[in-house]
Amino acid sequence: MKEVYTLADLESRDLLDAGAENKPARLAVIGHPIAHSASPRMHQAALDDRGENMRYIRIDVEPGKVGEAFARMMKLGFIGCNVTVPHKLEAMEHCEVDHHATMLGAVNTIHFDGNRTIGYNTDGPGFESAIEQDFKLSLSSMKVAVVGAGGGAGQAIATQCVVSGARKLVMVNRTIEKIDRLRDHLEDKQLESLFSKIWKDREIIALSFDDPALREHCLSCDLIVNTSSVGLKPGDPSILPADCLKPEHLVYDTIYQPPVTPLLAAAIETGCRASNGLSMLVHQGALAFQHWFPGSVPLPVMRAALGKTA
Ligand code: ATR
Repeated sequence: MKEVYTLADLESRDLLDAGAENKPARLAVIGHPIAHSASPRMHQAALDDRGENMRYIRIDVEPGKVGEAFARMMKLGFIGCNVTVPHKLEAMEHCEVDHHATMLGAVNTIHFDGNRTIGYNTDGPGFESAIEQDFKLSLSSMKVAVVGAGGGAGQAIATQCVVSGARKLVMVNRTIEKIDRLRDHLEDKQLESLFSKIWKDREIIALSFDDPALREHCLSCDLIVNTSSVGLKPGDPSILPADCLKPEHLVYDTIYQPPVTPLLAAAIETGCRASNGLSMLVHQGALAFQHWFPGSVPLPVMRAALGKTA
């Protein structure tokens, strides 16, 4: 058994299950790199809890090889897989994308259903559930600032906020072109007929970090979310200046390692309620598991597997 498998290991069952012949790999997370992923810990716990005799493994798949990985997994009888950075867009080209994932612009869950490869997105709904769990409040009617909204995770979360009924969305990104396009998309009137919670008079704003209105718009929001990668590396600054925060803010960082990012430290210092991305990790995982095992309730076991703070 390996910590990390590669595309070459998907050549045959003999290679893939060497050392684990009685417990075949039938679920996986694919990404590049992937060694750090916490997904196997929580999914394996949920599988074992159900008495499913199978393994959930990590597979390192290079960019450009996602379609081949799906084809090989399907041939070997996999149930599905999770898709993580940097493959969430590439995956869309190699599956039937369900309408919510199309809307969110990315796929993070694949189900091999007979001869179909179906792609879902559980990041957006997982984020919504995490906010409800951590802050005991619904996104509906909230005013939300999504900082780093131009990245893959950011676009999905910003879109989820609008679909879930946020009244105001402030998107902040270093590269403004990425969120200008997204703003046009989220302002589109057609969305109102597709998603019942969307506000007709929603306010969608796109800002760069040097916009003079940044502070004022942040202070007008209820919830601040960091979806950028700033805060992951030691020595990173807070993605927002401290004067953009007020004690009434709810602050959520999608990063969970380190558990307290510079943004969360600034939020705690300001007196805000603050939470990290572990809750989103576990909720998106539970929703993915339910696509593979409809009717299952994996959340408590997954949460326990990740530690009590999830
Ligand atoms: P993912 O798709 O996983 O979200 P990504 O596409 O690399 O990852 O996006 C990372 C996000 O972090 C983007 O919003 C990025 O801003 P740009 O769109 O301008 O690239 C943001 N980001 C990364 N480094 C940053 C930095 N030093 N300052 C501000 N934003 C940064």
